[in-house]
Amino acid sequence: MTACPFHARHDANAQVVGAADAADAADAVDTDAPIADALSIDAPLAPLLDPALRMRPPNEPLPPPLRAQGGPLAEVFSRWLRQRDDAAHAPEKAVLSRALLALSDDDVRAHARRQAAIAARGGWSHWHWAVPASTVASLLGLPMDDLAAQRRLHGQLRAMAAGLGAQATGEAVRAGGEAVATLLGALDDAEHRAPDAPLQWTLLRHAGPSRWTDRAAFTANRLALIWQSHEAGAALLGHALLGDSWMGGAPTREALLRLARDGGAVRVTRRFDVRQQPPAPVTVQLAGTDHPFGDGAHRCPGQGLALGTSLASLQWLAEQPGLRPPTAVAPLALPNMDIPQFKDEELFP
Ligand code: HEM
Repeated sequence: MTACPFHARHDANAQVVGAADAADAADAVDTDAPIADALSIDAPLAPLLDPALRMRPPNEPLPPPLRAQGGPLAEVFSRWLRQRDDAAHAPEKAVLSRALLALSDDDVRAHARRQAAIAARGGWSHWHWAVPASTVASLLGLPMDDLAAQRRLHGQLRAMAAGLGAQATGEAVRAGGEAVATLLGALDDAEHRAPDAPLQWTLLRHAGPSRWTDRAAFTANRLALIWQSHEAGAALLGHALLGDSWMGGAPTREALLRLARDGGAVRVTRRFDVRQQPPAPVTVQLAGTDHPFGDGAHRCPGQGLALGTSLASLQWLAEQPGLRPPTAVAPLALPNMDIPQFKDEELFP
């Protein structure tokens, strides 16, 4: 199974660092203003502020399977903010963050509730996987009007995940590239057909193509919003469903953040230490720190959207009478997170 490339892929021999290393880089400067929220008052996560820890090894913008096969998946990967430390990262990240901050809570809530209701027809094995990415897609103006549209999107994102795996075959990279090409086309289409869809509108207003290196960088990072919400969003929502506390009402935002901090979302991330030759992979612990959404230049700009989506969809669930609680089965264990899985059972008996 594959891991999300936005996050860690840690090798057995990767060095692991965490909050204990904070003193080493206490005076490191974060060039990218973090989005304000309850957690940002906590001490910084020092390794993520260390300029010698980079997203990719120098001169190696693509992992081997993407380098070997090329195509649309490789092309978007090399443009994703998550994979870059170049000079354009900070200004491009700043405009993207502004666009996400400009989204209204009401729009997020309305789209998440609608996607939650549609996903409920797909049973418990589908619900937490579908809601996060379908909500972002819907906010971008993709026609997410029925279960088939959600299933199609899910299949495309799993194809991308397979193509991004450390050991991906040429065929997996090709199939992932096909999914990317289809989604890029759908997003271009939405830009013309539904420019007033909430997230499409804030992107065009605050982070339109002219604010990026080129249009390809803009479209790759627009797609990245859906991609990035997929596994991390399913992990967070899935962990919120474990146990039955949500049945009495949606958790608070603080409780969700606590869940993420306790390991119920992205647990680790990865960097390359360029002080060493060859650059050494370093795994940075996020679970158990105050930074489950990362820190420093690559801190998650989607935190508010991810929490808003989870809260609104859990609230929708809590309002449904006669729900059968989900039955957990073995989670999907990725190198950087566990995604809870549930039996393929109806929500309503
Ligand atoms: C709507 C949902 C989401 C969107 C649109 C989103 C978007 C992004 C983007 C674009 C980045 C890359 C930023 C950069 O490299 O400059 C990122 C990083 C990150 N995201 Fe999110 N994200 C979402 C959900 C989540 C969730 C649910 C989590 C789980 C806690 C999460 C955790 C992270 C972390 C830890 C990083 C930093 C990774 C690192 O520094 O290595 N994200 N996110």
